[in-house]
Amino acid sequence: MWRYKEMMPVEYEENIITLGEGWTPLFKAKRLGELLGFSNLYLKDESLNPTGSFKARGMSAAISQAKEKGVKKIAIPTAGNAGGAAAAYAAKAGQEAYVFMPDDTPDAFQIECEQYGAIVEKIDGLISDCGKIVAKRKEAEGWFDISTLKEPYRVEGKKTMGYELAEQLNWQLPDVIIYPTGGGTGIIGMWKAFQEMEELGWIDSKRPKMISVQAEGCAPIVRAFNEGLDNAPPFEGADTVASGLRVPSAIGDFLILQSIRDSNGYALAVSDDALLEGVTPLGKAEGIFAAPEAGATVAALENLLENGQIQKDEQIVLFITGSGIKYMDVFNSFS
Ligand SMILES: Cc1ncc(COP(=O)(O)O)c(C=O)c1O
Repeated sequence: MWRYKEMMPVEYEENIITLGEGWTPLFKAKRLGELLGFSNLYLKDESLNPTGSFKARGMSAAISQAKEKGVKKIAIPTAGNAGGAAAAYAAKAGQEAYVFMPDDTPDAFQIECEQYGAIVEKIDGLISDCGKIVAKRKEAEGWFDISTLKEPYRVEGKKTMGYELAEQLNWQLPDVIIYPTGGGTGIIGMWKAFQEMEELGWIDSKRPKMISVQAEGCAPIVRAFNEGLDNAPPFEGADTVASGLRVPSAIGDFLILQSIRDSNGYALAVSDDALLEGVTPLGKAEGIFAAPEAGATVAALENLLENGQIQKDEQIVLFITGSGIKYMDVFNSFS
């Protein structure tokens, strides 16, 4: 991803902390397309990033920038994947990492963080409660808070997905992007990249339809989109097995909603059963074992087609945001 370093925040190259993130495959999912009735379906396989998700991009940028600024200790609230990535990049940078996750986060995430040397605390609550703990203790503990959008650098890493998509498609953006949305930095980052690339003269003003998928048990963006709101009120009683989508209140809600609306896009929710079922055809047809969050993009297709939001022959890119390998407890309890 550092092929785009001129567009990234780090000033001195020696501060770049990399584990080989980015430049993930984008390919036509021929068999999945045939199975589901789409002739131009593409997958961007983010599960191949270090630590198994697109979160590696944001953490490579944020931890590099933290290193440049002399940070020694970082803290993060997480649904799982961001914590694993933060712990790995902090380890590589020689920084201490403090990770707070809800106590029902799949076990693999805690084990992984600890193997990277992080201190993990499991919290009886949601990611928002974890965030409050970081906010309360950070000053006394001397932590740099790398919560989503509380620092400006993670989104700079995530935006490289937008640069890659354009470069891999020969500087023509697709018709549709379908992205599973929690805190929303994937969508926000790509939207920023499109704007930058247009200013650079690399692409024209055509934008993909940005489609945000959430889980029915936690769908604040979908609700706000349907109600025509600019901000998304907190979603009470948030509950979904897709832990990365269990974000009841996203700090960048207005930016997510803006990019969806400006792109003539859409937001929809799918059930937990549907998103888990969405994982299976990715495995059977394409050989990718995806995270439940990514299964939501497959689950969304039928509904989107039925209500005329997408067409069978459009170029549609599904973001496979993470690997399923760390979610064994989730798959076990649903099989
Ligand atoms: C696999 C996976 N997909 C999607 C998301 C949602 O990403 P964002 O919070 O940037 O919307 C997450 C967040 O944890 C995730 O782990």
